Amino acid sequence: MRLNSPQINIITRACNKASRSLIRDFGEIENLQVSSKGPGDFVTSADKRTEKFIINELQKAYPEYGIITEESGILNKDNTKNRWIIDPIDGTMNFLNGIPHFAISIGYEEDNEIKCGVIFDPIKNEMFCAEKGNGAYLNNSRIRVSNKKKLINALIVTGGPKHSSKIKEEIFSEFIEVSKKVHAPIRKFGSAALDVAYVACGRFDGYWQKEINYWDIAAGIIILKEAGGFIDFFEQDNKASLKRNILASNSNIHDELGGLIIKKNIE
Ligand code: IPD
Ligand code: CA
Ligand code: CA
Repeated sequence: MRLNSPQINIITRACNKASRSLIRDFGEIENLQVSSKGPGDFVTSADKRTEKFIINELQKAYPEYGIITEESGILNKDNTKNRWIIDPIDGTMNFLNGIPHFAISIGYEEDNEIKCGVIFDPIKNEMFCAEKGNGAYLNNSRIRVSNKKKLINALIVTGGPKHSSKIKEEIFSEFIEVSKKVHAPIRKFGSAALDVAYVACGRFDGYWQKEINYWDIAAGIIILKEAGGFIDFFEQDNKASLKRNILASNSNIHDELGGLIIKKNIE
C-alpha cells in the first residue's frame, strides 16, 4: 500500500486492533439471539467498547485532536482544525441480527476537509482506505469506481428512512423515481459506510441517502473521491452540518441520478 501519512497509519492500526474484539463479540451474537435476554444491551456495549478503544488508540498519538463520534459526541471541541470522525460500528442492526455486513469507519479531517480515511469490514477482512492525492485501496489493490455509462444499467444502493424521519414521503417518492429508471432492483444493505466503499470499488454504481450522519460517510468521502467517484451533498454549506444528504456515484451517471433526487437543505 502506498499510503503513508502518520494519520492513515494510526487509523489502520486502530481498526485492526479494535476489530479483534469486535469479531469475538459478533461470534457471541448467535448465542445471545437464542437466550431470553437477547443481544440488545450486549450490542450497545460492544458499540461503546469499540469506540472507547479506538478513541484511546487515536489519543495516544494525538491527544489534542478534536473527535466527533457517534456514541460519545464531540471531544476536544476547541480543536476544529484536526479532527477524527468515528463510527465504531456502522451497520449496527446487521451486527445485532448476526448479519456479517458492518464496518468500522474512521476519517481524519484537517481544516474542514477529509484528508484520509479507513472503512474496515472485519468479517470479510476488507479494508478500504484512501489518502488525499495517493489513491484508494481495498487491502493492497488500487480501486476505482465502475465505468457504467447509463443509469438504466446501473446497480444502485440506498438506505433509510429512519423511524424518526419527517420526510419519509419524500424519501419513498425518490425511491420510486429511481426505481423507474433502473433495470435492477435498488439495494439496501444497511451500512452507509460500506455502501460508499462499494461504490468506490465498482460493486455498486451509485448510492444516495437523505439525513445521513457525518460519521457514517466521513471516511467514505475521501475513499470515493480518490477512487475517481463524484460526491454531492446538495447543501449550500455542507461543512457546517453534521447531518447531510448524499449522492455518490461514478461520474457517468452522476447527473442523471442527481436529477431524480429532491435537492433541499436539511432543516
Ligand atoms: C446506520 C447505517 C444505515 C443507514 C443509517 C445509519 P448505524 O448507521 O449506516 O445503513 O441507513 O442511516 O444510521 O446506526 O448502523 O451506525
Ligand atoms: Ca452509522
Ligand atoms: Ca454506529
